[in-house]
Amino acid sequence: MVAVAFLGLGRMGAPMAANLARAGHDLVLYNRTAAKAAALAERLGAVVAPTPREAARQAEIVITMLADEDALLGVCDGANGVLAGLRPGGVLVDMGTTGPEGIERLAPRVAAAGGTLVDAPVSGSTAAAEAGGLTILVGAPEGTFRRLEPVLGALGDRVFHLGDTGAGSVMKLAVNNIIYALGNALSESLVLAERAGLERDVVYEVFEHSAISAPMVRYRREAFLAPDRTPAAFAMTLARKDLELITGLAATVGVDVEQAEANLSLYGKAIDAGLGARDMADVAVYLRRAADAT
Ligand SMILES: NC(=O)c1ccc[n+]([C@@H]2O[C@H](COP(=O)([O-])OP(=O)(O)OC[C@H]3O[C@@H](n4cnc5c(N)ncnc54)[C@H](OP(=O)(O)O)[C@@H]3O)[C@@H](O)[C@H]2O)c1
Repeated sequence: MVAVAFLGLGRMGAPMAANLARAGHDLVLYNRTAAKAAALAERLGAVVAPTPREAARQAEIVITMLADEDALLGVCDGANGVLAGLRPGGVLVDMGTTGPEGIERLAPRVAAAGGTLVDAPVSGSTAAAEAGGLTILVGAPEGTFRRLEPVLGALGDRVFHLGDTGAGSVMKLAVNNIIYALGNALSESLVLAERAGLERDVVYEVFEHSAISAPMVRYRREAFLAPDRTPAAFAMTLARKDLELITGLAATVGVDVEQAEANLSLYGKAIDAGLGARDMADVAVYLRRAADAT
């Protein structure tokens, strides 16, 4: 089995790393907050690397699952960064949602370090990460994709090869643009129906059995119905980051994305109201509070 370094053990990264261990890969773990890596390594029987460079030195494939481009550069750059430790012919697979423009900026630097950058962002929430049921959207040269297939197959049940490096990130933003449209439409319609006198759980049950039912409508059920006792699965700050990537790409390619702009504005208001660390479904909480205040 090929040795894999996994950097970024947050809500998504930790269960993904666990699936690689379960599939029999030799795992080297790194996380900025080292205690998370130590605890997971003990559970999985994996090795912890003290720096991203050491993690990269010990593996043929280096996977990153980090918050955003700044975090990715934080582990790639510098004397202790991934680029300083990448093996000749090594592959850096970024599975976070970094966006095609960030991937385009990093790719030549990975090539200069002797490796290949692949973008493989994922669709699906923490439950899909735990179940190895993610949808993986890959941008990679053909030969590199073939090398990665057994590793990615341990993380997801649908692996799409969309083109060369960067193509996976374009697809991911196209998917997420719809996710935020649906999420915020759910929040608006739920609060609208509640304020007009219907019961929250009845309204949601109808959503689940109507034409708009989608996997996200079903797996975010508890987040919408009981926000106070449901832990965040996807922080609102990450939703805002994605919408900034979406509107940025739209500006670059010259497409009008009015509903993305509206969703970006709505997340901005909810984050300004102190809900940034809460789940993206808590836009409904923001709207409920705003309605109560009028
Ligand atoms: N959650 C979901 O449902 C979901 C679904 C699909 C895609 N995604 C995408 O997957 C990525 C990870 O999401 P997540 O929910 O797992 O996020 P998360 O739980 O917040 O974890 C973020 C990870 O990034 C690390 N990090 C943040 N800033 C850093 C920096 N400056 N330098 C080094 N490391 C840094 C964190 O390290 P610490 O532990 O030290 O904070 C942690 O390991 C994001 O791009 C997100 O958009 C998420």
